[in-house]
Amino acid sequence: MNRDTDRANEAPLDRMESDETARDETGSRRRFLKGSLAAAAGVATASMWDATAAFAQEDEKPLSGPPGRIDDEAYWERVRAQFHLKPDTIYLNNGTLGLCPKPVTQAVYDGYLYLAETGSEGRSQLWDEVEESRKTAARFLGANENEMVLTRNATQGLRFIANGIRMEPGDEVLMTTDEHIAGFQPWTRRARRYGIQVNQVQIPSPPGSKQEVVDLFEQALTPRTKVIFFCQVTRGPGLLYPVRELCAMAREKGIVSAVDGAQAPGMTPVNLNEMGCDLFATSLHKWALTPSGTGCLYVREGFQDNFWPGSGGNGPWDDREQGLWHVGPHGTYERPVRAAIKTALNFLESIGMDAIFARDRMLSDYLKGQLMELPGVSLGTSTDHALSSPGITSFGVEGWDSTLLRGILQGKAGIVLSRDQRRTHDLVRVSTHFYNTPGEIDRLIELLKEIL
Ligand SMILES: Cc1ncc(COP(=O)(O)O)c(C=O)c1O
Repeated sequence: MNRDTDRANEAPLDRMESDETARDETGSRRRFLKGSLAAAAGVATASMWDATAAFAQEDEKPLSGPPGRIDDEAYWERVRAQFHLKPDTIYLNNGTLGLCPKPVTQAVYDGYLYLAETGSEGRSQLWDEVEESRKTAARFLGANENEMVLTRNATQGLRFIANGIRMEPGDEVLMTTDEHIAGFQPWTRRARRYGIQVNQVQIPSPPGSKQEVVDLFEQALTPRTKVIFFCQVTRGPGLLYPVRELCAMAREKGIVSAVDGAQAPGMTPVNLNEMGCDLFATSLHKWALTPSGTGCLYVREGFQDNFWPGSGGNGPWDDREQGLWHVGPHGTYERPVRAAIKTALNFLESIGMDAIFARDRMLSDYLKGQLMELPGVSLGTSTDHALSSPGITSFGVEGWDSTLLRGILQGKAGIVLSRDQRRTHDLVRVSTHFYNTPGEIDRLIELLKEIL
């Protein structure tokens, strides 16, 4: 992938930057240089670990490996100390926005400080940091580097997808009735403007099996279906769709597969090369704990020649050799924010993704077990691990409106939650991540008992 155009115009400054004495003028320049070198050597970046050291009390030392046991609460307490959690809030809404760990907020601050000190000159150095973030995101999600482009969020990537696939009037896209508005809306706009057709299939919540989901999709295909579009993890019920099976079915029939992955990275395993989809858009600021306003878009290498999103980036849009560079970014953008993506992903990997998935699963199993004991409560998600995500648990209460119930829980005890109200269900959504505790779940259950 080529450098951005402003970088190309800054060649004399690039040469200046290779002069070590120029780099040594400010502390923050040194920090970024160290960050790049450490990243190039394949270790956690200096911006992450320097920042951690700045915050660390004796009991807040960075963790350099997974816990011996997933229920080692002392280990998870030390992890929790790396976050800016407020004592009077129980945060159970990671599905809307994850909480940045301290090293990430520090890296964003460092980046803007660096820009304030160096202006356009420092912008070039930050470009390298952003590129490192893009490559780290590709590795994290099991993609090749030339298949990944950074975006502002899932919504932006989903719009690129809905507008970037070639379709003729009358061609059809098949999606579920459970899509997030960010996934659904750009397709309906395209339908209205350009005459494609949006078809929907209803998947029961929860479905009986993975095969049932694939069968329902297959039965809803028509000879005009050109694209299937669905979530890896659904927003409200937190269902885990059989992505690999759905993409294989589509590929066999010559249909494009596009996935809304907003709720997946950082919470459930994602390996894009194995998954087999053509397109995948996600936010990273939910479960992957990157700064708010960050996401990425995957376009499978073999599909890139067919992908022409309406809005190009700064790069040479008509040079297909440039891979995805033509997709973004647009003009001057928030480089310190994007540079900190790698800080967050390295933070997760310093704990270990297997440990994080297991911890999330343990917490949601515990929560589901307690909810099922409460009278009038029914789960909107499945207890089957093959069909449910590790982080999202949703429930409905007979005779209760989920917005009202959520409001009471928040007002009474500072419990932050979400809800999902649709034609097919009315659910309170609890999304627990590895820094939540069994004690916080107990508090939620106690309150529900009081209220109900
Ligand atoms: C399934 C799904 N898709 C897309 C989005 C949009 O995400 P963002 O607002 O980060 O673009 C969300 C947000 O909750 C989501 O749950």
